[in-house]
Amino acid sequence: MKGLHELFVQELHLLYDGEKQIVEMLPGIIDAASSKRLKEALGEHLEETKKQVRRLEVIFKELHQSFSEMRSQVMESLLKEAGKVIQSDYEASVKDVALINCIQHIEHFEIASYGILKSLAKDFNYDNIYNLLDESSDEEGLANKTLTKIAEGNLLCKGVNTKASETEELSNTPTCPPNCS
Ligand SMILES: [Fe+2]
Repeated sequence: MKGLHELFVQELHLLYDGEKQIVEMLPGIIDAASSKRLKEALGEHLEETKKQVRRLEVIFKELHQSFSEMRSQVMESLLKEAGKVIQSDYEASVKDVALINCIQHIEHFEIASYGILKSLAKDFNYDNIYNLLDESSDEEGLANKTLTKIAEGNLLCKGVNTKASETEELSNTPTCPPNCS
C-alpha cells in the first residue's frame, strides 16, 4: 500500500506538470492582456514560474526521482478557462479582469498545493525541500496580491474613477464592467 511519502511525490509531480503548463500558456495570456501593468506583472510571473519549475527539478534530484510525465488535469482545466477568455469578445478592460480572475484561480490552487507540500516536507524533515517550496509559495502569494492591486487600482470602476479624478485626464465616463455604478 502506498504511504504518505508516495502521496508527497505524486503531488510534487502534479505541481511540476502544472507549473510547466503555466509556462506554456502564460505568453498567450500576456498577448491577450491590454493593460501595460498587467502584461508586466504576468511577464514577471512567467520568469518566476520558470524558476519554480527548476526548484521542483532540484527537489526531484534530492529525492532521486525522475521528472515524470504525470498530467495535472486540474491545471489543464483552469488554463482551459483562460483559453476561453483569450478567445472571447469581451472589451479590452473587461477581458483583463476576466484574465485576472482566471490567473487568481490558478494562484489559489498553487498556494494550496504548495501549502500541503510544505507541511509534508516539514513532517519528513526535508529542510532544503521545505525552503524551496516556501520560496515558490511566497512568489505565488505575491503574484496573487499584485493582481488584486491591478484589478482594484486600474481596471475596476472605482480604480478607474479614482485615477480619472486624480489625473483629470479622463473626462468621459470610463468603460466599466457590468454592475458598476
Ligand atoms: Fe507557479
